[in-house]
Amino acid sequence: MAVFKKCLVFLLVLLTAFALQIIFFSPISPDILELPLTSPSASVPPSNNQLQKVIKLGEGLLEGPEDVAVDEDGALYTATRGGWIRRLHRNGSWEDWKKFESNTLLGIATPKRGGLIVCDADKGLLKFTDDGVTVLASHVDGSEIR
Ligand SMILES: *[C@@H]1O[C@H](CO)[C@@H](O)[C@H](O)[C@H]1NC(C)=O
Repeated sequence: MAVFKKCLVFLLVLLTAFALQIIFFSPISPDILELPLTSPSASVPPSNNQLQKVIKLGEGLLEGPEDVAVDEDGALYTATRGGWIRRLHRNGSWEDWKKFESNTLLGIATPKRGGLIVCDADKGLLKFTDDGVTVLASHVDGSEIR
């Protein structure tokens, strides 16, 4: 029983020493962290109605347009999921310019020499002109572009 008491006293002394060590020599500062105050105007951007002026082009006319490009005459092109290349003329009228049997037409670009370059995820790189469609690249290093 005396051994048990000695152990208990030793344990209490140990815990007290440990607690005093933490209270007086702890590297953790108990100081309250003061964050800089922000002015209310800095956290809330000024309101505006810029997005109210956005005009949706081709709403209801275009099925899944993926990209847009503008040619030198100012006509805007887009390739749709249905395989259509649609052209928006400067006078605001849409034209079904070209139809291609594909539902994977993605990015488009208007090169300086005219026509329209279209990336097709299945068939490769295509060039559309008023005369028709040319496949510019369907393979790279012997591997089919996919
Ligand atoms: C709009 O412009 C295109 C290209 O110049 C022309 O073919 C089309 O007839 C015009 N549409 C209207 C409604 O003026």
